Amino acid sequence: MALRQIRYDGDDILRKKCKEVKEMTERTRILIDDMFETMYEANGVGLAAPQVGILKRIVVIDVDYEHPYVLINPVILEQEGEQTGEEGCLSLPGKVALVPRPDRVTCQCFNEDMEQVIIEADGLLARAICHEVDHLEGILYKDVAIEPLRDVEYEE
Ligand code: NI
Repeated sequence: MALRQIRYDGDDILRKKCKEVKEMTERTRILIDDMFETMYEANGVGLAAPQVGILKRIVVIDVDYEHPYVLINPVILEQEGEQTGEEGCLSLPGKVALVPRPDRVTCQCFNEDMEQVIIEADGLLARAICHEVDHLEGILYKDVAIEPLRDVEYEE
């Protein structure tokens, strides 16, 4: 495994639409492993392939550092409710803003063995799925935030 270079806001690649994955290859397996390593190293809970410069529809998520998810070609089939919470992104380090998201989502995707799976998610996992699926369309959370980005602050 190896760390990949994270792309930051302002890099054109973050604004491009990603291509579907047609088959699993050794190269893609290595990419997925590297994405997990890069995400954990940066203390993130989600990472999309374009954030490491690869325009493929691949996302890794682990919101509690106990349940890693690989989402390949994810599609949000259903969404319900609303939650508004603080969001950040490894491509916009040191910043946060409030973003409204659905409270529950049903996501269809493929796992690393290219088996179709359905993920029923709520709360933080639902938020993370929406944030990462947006990345595959070239959308950043600052585009859908309801306030300007703020610097991360530590309360006294
Ligand atoms: Ni992000």
